[in-house]
Amino acid sequence: MHSLSTLLVLGLSSWAAAVPAAPLEHRASSCTFKTAAAAAAGKKSCTNIVLQDITVPAGQTLDLTKLKDGTTVTFAGKTTFGYKEWEGPLISVSGKGITVKGASGHVIDGNGAKWWDGKGSNGGKKKPKFFFAHSLTSSSIVGLNVKNTPVQGFSINGANGLTLKNIHIDNSAGDYEKGGHNTDAFDVGSSDGVKIIGAVVKNQDDCLAINSGKNIEFTGGDCSGGHGLSIGSVGGRKDNDVENVVISNSKISDSTNGVRIKTVYGATGSVDHVTYSNIQLSNISKYGIVIQQDYENGSPTGKPTNGVPITHLTLDGITGSVTSKATPVQILCGNGSCSGWEVENVKVSGGKKSSKCQNVPKGISC
Ligand SMILES: *[C@@H]1O[C@H](CO)[C@@H](O)[C@H](O)[C@H]1NC(C)=O
Ligand SMILES: *[C@@H]1O[C@H](CO)[C@@H](O)[C@H](O)[C@H]1NC(C)=O
Repeated sequence: MHSLSTLLVLGLSSWAAAVPAAPLEHRASSCTFKTAAAAAAGKKSCTNIVLQDITVPAGQTLDLTKLKDGTTVTFAGKTTFGYKEWEGPLISVSGKGITVKGASGHVIDGNGAKWWDGKGSNGGKKKPKFFFAHSLTSSSIVGLNVKNTPVQGFSINGANGLTLKNIHIDNSAGDYEKGGHNTDAFDVGSSDGVKIIGAVVKNQDDCLAINSGKNIEFTGGDCSGGHGLSIGSVGGRKDNDVENVVISNSKISDSTNGVRIKTVYGATGSVDHVTYSNIQLSNISKYGIVIQQDYENGSPTGKPTNGVPITHLTLDGITGSVTSKATPVQILCGNGSCSGWEVENVKVSGGKKSSKCQNVPKGISC
């Protein structure tokens, strides 16, 4: 009892305080932790965890994996991280029925500018990934205020029923050239039932990238500075099927691309029943809409292949403008591998028409 109370700073709930003979696990159900070590050591005895002003030591993960069912984790005050060149993640959460939220006025500051060298995950300093939301079931992450992730932000993998609501990510510290490249906001793979609602993202890579998974929704997002709302790249991983995705009611501004689907050259897999609906574009510098089946090692080959068909794609209400040097619509499909598309109210103005489109399916002009 004595050693436990020194280990945990117990925020005793009033009923527990009033019932001193309550079993230990009940009295320990609410805990405030001020160090990452205390959180890791005490997480199993609490279902209401408050992380208060934690500085996570360099090279360590704020380990919130395998939480008790139904645990609530609240980030309070400022959460920061020591500097080390390593792979991360800085934060990891797993469990069932978990709620992760932010207290009013909190910030989770990844201190990314210390790592940023303009090379992202393609070289230079080794940069830790930010937040592993892996193996979360029937859970939610709500209202987090995140700044300056060293490289990729939320990695969502193996989720079954996960809602991320009102997550704000601002990776805008430092100048652009030395900035936070490859700071994808949400990377989704091998998951079923993911909802990302009301995300506000300023970054330098995909706002959303879905590599595999099904029943995924992204709505009410506001993305700027990055590479747009992407499916892919699909192919060449363990899971290569994307099914039933709705991306809707979102804005993409000051970005290289708007709507993007990329599948890997020579690979196999599928992209089926993806809908983009009511997407507003502004100041897009490369492609308003780009759908390409020719991706290899991070860049296009110009030679689309048909092993990852894109079927039943709906583009409904994609409007706005690209810059004068950009291309409004670029479609590079393999022979017969884009079909069953429904296209309505696609009006992207500005830029120059593409001369490179291949195998464009019925319904869209290039
Ligand atoms: C357009 O977006 C770029 C980033 O792609 C940004 O540097 C520039 O300031 C934006 N222009 C306007 C007028 O907002
Ligand atoms: C496209 O595929 C069909 C069979 O599905 C084949 O007959 C045709 O020759 C192919 N065209 C090209 C240009 O490869």
